[in-house]
Amino acid sequence: MVRRPGTSVCEINGDGLRDEAAMIITRTRAELASALAERAATTSFGPPGSFGVVMTMGALHAGHAELIRRARAECAQVVVTIFLNPLQFGSGEDLAKYPRTFDADTQLCAEHDVDIVFAPAPDVIYPDGDPGIRVCAGALGEVLEGSSRPGHFDGVLTVVATLLHLTRPTRAYYGRKDAQQLLLIRRMVRDLDFDCEVVEVPTVREADGLAMSSRNTHLTALDREVALTLFRALAAGEKAAVEGASAVRRAARNVLVAEPLCRVDYLVLVHPDTLDDVPEWYRGEALLAVAAKVGTTRLIDNALLTIGR
Ligand code: PAJ
Repeated sequence: MVRRPGTSVCEINGDGLRDEAAMIITRTRAELASALAERAATTSFGPPGSFGVVMTMGALHAGHAELIRRARAECAQVVVTIFLNPLQFGSGEDLAKYPRTFDADTQLCAEHDVDIVFAPAPDVIYPDGDPGIRVCAGALGEVLEGSSRPGHFDGVLTVVATLLHLTRPTRAYYGRKDAQQLLLIRRMVRDLDFDCEVVEVPTVREADGLAMSSRNTHLTALDREVALTLFRALAAGEKAAVEGASAVRRAARNVLVAEPLCRVDYLVLVHPDTLDDVPEWYRGEALLAVAAKVGTTRLIDNALLTIGR
């Protein structure tokens, strides 16, 4: 059962009893606060007191569903936020083109036994319009995705901080698909002392390896074929991992250059904590990350490799 947005928090079923399974859809800070207070008192699954949040921008797919499944398995209460955050889109990036599938999104949440959906309008999160106060991602936010998308991670961290304050979870779930975002959220939670555990969830892929992404809906049939080059490059890099860093870079680059329709933005092999390029003598975990434009769609993917073993 799904509650209509903006209705009062307590759901009464036909027998005059409160329906424990009802998912509450909230739009405002006040609605969210009263839903959280109500749900804190009623524990359905998982360890008592554990509260999970899954933050999304909507257009939910199997990758998001996996985050929700993990949260559902591990937490007594699960909140999903659906907010297409204007602050993390640059002026040249097409926020208007981002897919919006709200009804299907809430349906997916209900099917996964989510307790509360928080789907605010931009003026709920940014009541004064463009916020003057922002979280600064610092140097780690200026490389890779940050260098192609200036200010992007300040926008991400600002909304993540706000949503952590509003939802007050004990656990917050993020995908490894966005490895740099995950690293920066971990840093923010640690450095600003948010009282929650960051949980990372492996990348969910299509059967042929393409990483699930809301942006995949923009791909034409030809783009879809070309898009697979990213995964193939990562797989080639992974295969060469025992031979060392330059073998990984070479193997991945060879796959990418063989597909001219895949316009590469970056291909890097970096330390997972510092995002610095790993030297040839490096042994241990490294992140092979790639970003490329296919047709009009910018795609990213990554793999965590063990170099030299
Ligand atoms: P969005 O792109 O909607 O992704 C929401 C969450 O789902 C992120 O943690 C992302 O890493 C994860 N995710 C996306 N595709 C995935 C896949 N194929 N496998 C596993 N996890 C996947 O990331 C954002 O939104 C925003 O930046 C947000 C954190 C919500 C802040 O606005």
